[in-house]
Amino acid sequence: MMTQDLSASSITAGLATRVIGRRVLYYPSVTSTMDIARREARRGAAEGTVVVAGEQTTGRGRLQRTWYSPQGNIALSIVLRPDLASLPCLVMIASLAVVRGIGAVTGLEALIKWPNDVLIDGRKVCGILIENEVVGNRVSFAIIGIGINVTLRPSDIAGIADTATSLEQELGTAVMPVALVRSLLTEFERLYFVLPDNESIYSAWRDRLVTLGKRVAVHSGGDVLDGVAESVDRTGALLLRHDDGNVTKVIAGDVTLRHND
Ligand code: BTN
Repeated sequence: MMTQDLSASSITAGLATRVIGRRVLYYPSVTSTMDIARREARRGAAEGTVVVAGEQTTGRGRLQRTWYSPQGNIALSIVLRPDLASLPCLVMIASLAVVRGIGAVTGLEALIKWPNDVLIDGRKVCGILIENEVVGNRVSFAIIGIGINVTLRPSDIAGIADTATSLEQELGTAVMPVALVRSLLTEFERLYFVLPDNESIYSAWRDRLVTLGKRVAVHSGGDVLDGVAESVDRTGALLLRHDDGNVTKVIAGDVTLRHND
């Protein structure tokens, strides 16, 4: 099967969205789509503007990590102008849109590891980074960065061989990145338009979380917290039950699932 290369027109052709992806900026190689999207947002880019890269030279992840982003994978950022009350839902919308897009295009079943890693068979296939600019109680913009491993061979990269995967590795056949980007943007818009009904987004996201009910280690702000991931609240925070019965509310962090329990 031929893989159709990404370009702005290949994405927008036939894209039936009203806001998300009406304007697509494609760059063969950039530092990070987050930088370009932020610059565009500051210049007044319309909500729904999407910045897509063929490759990123300094892609970044959550918690100051590097995001490896070579040619063949999907790296994009979406400019949004949501209200303040909707900010907690963006993590949920983005991860759900990826799960649904992957399901629609490949038939693979993906799950979400709190807060917004997308996993297939327990390995990370997609990471999401959200950067907001808030002035007073007004959101100037939010940038949703989504990186999906499509052709990546994790075994080639030191440090992620055991924890990462890619769609082609899982599927065993080629995946058309254009089809996935279109599906992702379509699902994203569908969910974004559900706002301000945060409740239904919250429950759909919670139902896809692989983390709940599991014994986990949570790395948060330099600490490691142990316990059972009991639930998540409507702001997206994780409620962690420790062995002594106390509960900690974790707003940001990274979870390791403890498979031996
Ligand atoms: C993570 O899992 O830590 C988040 C990874 C986010 C990667 C995407 S790729 C598109 C956008 N540009 C970046 O530099 N990062 C995000």
